[in-house]
Amino acid sequence: MVSCSTFHQVVSEGRDLDLTASPFGFMICAMLDHASLPLQLYHKAKSLLWDPREIDLSQDQQDWTRLSERERALIADLSAYFIGGEEAVTSHLTPLLIAFQREAKLAEEMFLTTQLFEESKHVEWFDRWFAAFTNGEPPRVESAAYHMLFDQELPAVLGRLLNDSSAEAQVTAIATYHIVIEGVLAETGYHGYSRALRSNNLMPGTVRGVELVQRDEARHIAFGIYTLSRLCQAKPSLWDTLMTRLNHLLPLALAIVGDIFAPYGEDIPFGLNPADFIEYASAQFDHRLAALERALG
Ligand SMILES: [Fe+2]
Ligand SMILES: [Fe+2]
Repeated sequence: MVSCSTFHQVVSEGRDLDLTASPFGFMICAMLDHASLPLQLYHKAKSLLWDPREIDLSQDQQDWTRLSERERALIADLSAYFIGGEEAVTSHLTPLLIAFQREAKLAEEMFLTTQLFEESKHVEWFDRWFAAFTNGEPPRVESAAYHMLFDQELPAVLGRLLNDSSAEAQVTAIATYHIVIEGVLAETGYHGYSRALRSNNLMPGTVRGVELVQRDEARHIAFGIYTLSRLCQAKPSLWDTLMTRLNHLLPLALAIVGDIFAPYGEDIPFGLNPADFIEYASAQFDHRLAALERALG
């Protein structure tokens, strides 16, 4: 019989498994550790399923017609930043799953299947939103910092994992994806919907959809913090790699937050203040750092 450890070693070395050497031709692996964080998050994802198609946008349609042109433009701009981001994270997550597969980290792979499914649903949600409110056409995102992050930085660090799944490469990828994009930028974006719409009792379906996206993202961020702390505990010098990456990306993230408001000059719709959002994003960054430090003990 082929043991689980033999199977993992053979797969990690890229060799073909010779099942003819086994009298039974199958393997027995260890029981799943359901108390592990990746599997706790996996089970939570199963219990919190939602369908973007089931969100009622009828009140939102009425509210939309009552918004000013500038208010509609700001909500559409914010949603454009989101749909582009969600498309990018959906497209570029798979190399991380492959990196865990090489290490036979099945629980991590199982969690990431839920994350990939959820990122896909987030794309679907924003696609549905644009179909409902702008005839399916998101406005173009003009921010150079946004395109640097999503078109260059993210594909580069996730793509690296296809050829280099070292712990250093994993830290760099997860810092970019789970900490800066999900833990700082997306969180600041939800705050934007909350201040513009929820605080004004507007577009309840949009508010609900964004809250459900945020609930999914909380699990993704938790997985990122767990994995980074696991990697840094195993090799403490990776903390410097992590800090270097985070400090490299923080100015880019803050520039993106500022760029959302740039077209609106001094008179931002809904009375929003860009400085509040820069401060909010910086606070989110500090929260993630504190969570990482706590996880490392
Ligand atoms: Fe997402
Ligand atoms: Fe996510």
